[in-house]
Amino acid sequence: MSSSHATDEAFWERIRDAYPRQQPLLNLNNAAVSPPPLVVEQAMIDAYRLINHNPDVNMWSKLDAALPAIKQQLAQLADCSPEEIALNRNTSEGLSTAIFGIPLTANDQVLISAWDYPSACAAWQQRQQREGIEVACVDFDLTASDEDIFKAYEAGITPKTRVIQITHMCHWNGRVLPVKRICELARSKGIITIVDGAQTFAQMPVSFRDLDCDYFVTSLHKWLGAPVGNGMLIVRESRIDSTWPLLAPFDPPPLRIDKFDHWNLGTYNSAVQAGIAPAIHFHREIGTGNIHARLRELTRYWLDQVRDLPGFRLYTPIDTDDLGAVSLFSMDRLDARKIEQELRQTHRVHVKFRQARHVAGLRVSPHIYMLKSDLDLFVDALRRVIRHG
Ligand SMILES: Cc1ncc(COP(=O)(O)O)c(C=O)c1O
Repeated sequence: MSSSHATDEAFWERIRDAYPRQQPLLNLNNAAVSPPPLVVEQAMIDAYRLINHNPDVNMWSKLDAALPAIKQQLAQLADCSPEEIALNRNTSEGLSTAIFGIPLTANDQVLISAWDYPSACAAWQQRQQREGIEVACVDFDLTASDEDIFKAYEAGITPKTRVIQITHMCHWNGRVLPVKRICELARSKGIITIVDGAQTFAQMPVSFRDLDCDYFVTSLHKWLGAPVGNGMLIVRESRIDSTWPLLAPFDPPPLRIDKFDHWNLGTYNSAVQAGIAPAIHFHREIGTGNIHARLRELTRYWLDQVRDLPGFRLYTPIDTDDLGAVSLFSMDRLDARKIEQELRQTHRVHVKFRQARHVAGLRVSPHIYMLKSDLDLFVDALRRVIRHG
């Protein structure tokens, strides 16, 4: 399928039929978590039933036996080795694994940004309090140019910097940061990099090799369509041995990377992971490039209808190929929280209020199971809310 299908509504109607119906709200908060296709949902239900017939044998001998093959498929999508992939519950867990697992000593410096995911910043602050490492925060405007953002990171580096944490796509406004350049700079100075790819993996093509970072973390329940509770941590081969796992393994794991796998949690519901392979299959049938093109098309579609409304303020750069499903807006003189409430209570449309520092607005994130006609409903509802201000 070519990316010209981005505007082919008949094609996307068939995709929509492959998803559970979203009700009672029109779900425009897929950046938080998205529904899996029906085939994925069914695979998980079947696996759960299978487990219940003989939990011990069916989880550990049958379902978990498929995990190496799942890692192979994920490795192809992410462009890394399967032996660099750990399966876990979500991005938050992957971030904590990297953050608490990298050996550092007092006065080593870590560079983060105010736009990074709050729990990742809080995890670094814990290390600051407990171990005396120094956490420095890069400051930049979310709508600044790539060059200015790169320079902000460059200026933040000192001889003490050991780690840089960078968010690939900011969850506030969908801005994609110049991660590859920042990782290249970090590598030239021997600095370790952690990339938070919660919002980019499976939303757009992502190559671990090309980004050239040390740790890449993501959730598989946002853009890949795997069941809720699936995440992936990629650790550069040469970093695996020096990184501590969050939980010590029960047995020595078969592969070095497995020390970060969900197994180390203790007993876990393997049915959740039985949905990953069908999700990858569904995703590949459409193709990551086509998915990204469609998400960009949907975002431009609704924005084109409201951009010229008096007081409409957009916080997402849109004239870029990086644009995807996630954008943030506000209306001058209108309280974004009230708009969110009114859209939900009166019009059954779910968008997400987001506030970070001076930016407060509404995040809108459609997914591939949505049609332009859904966005027409949203635009119509928004116009009404604004009119009644
Ligand atoms: C950039 C970013 N990082 C981390 C997370 C946390 O993801 P999860 O709740 O799946 O762990 C999110 C969730 O929206 C995110 O957008």
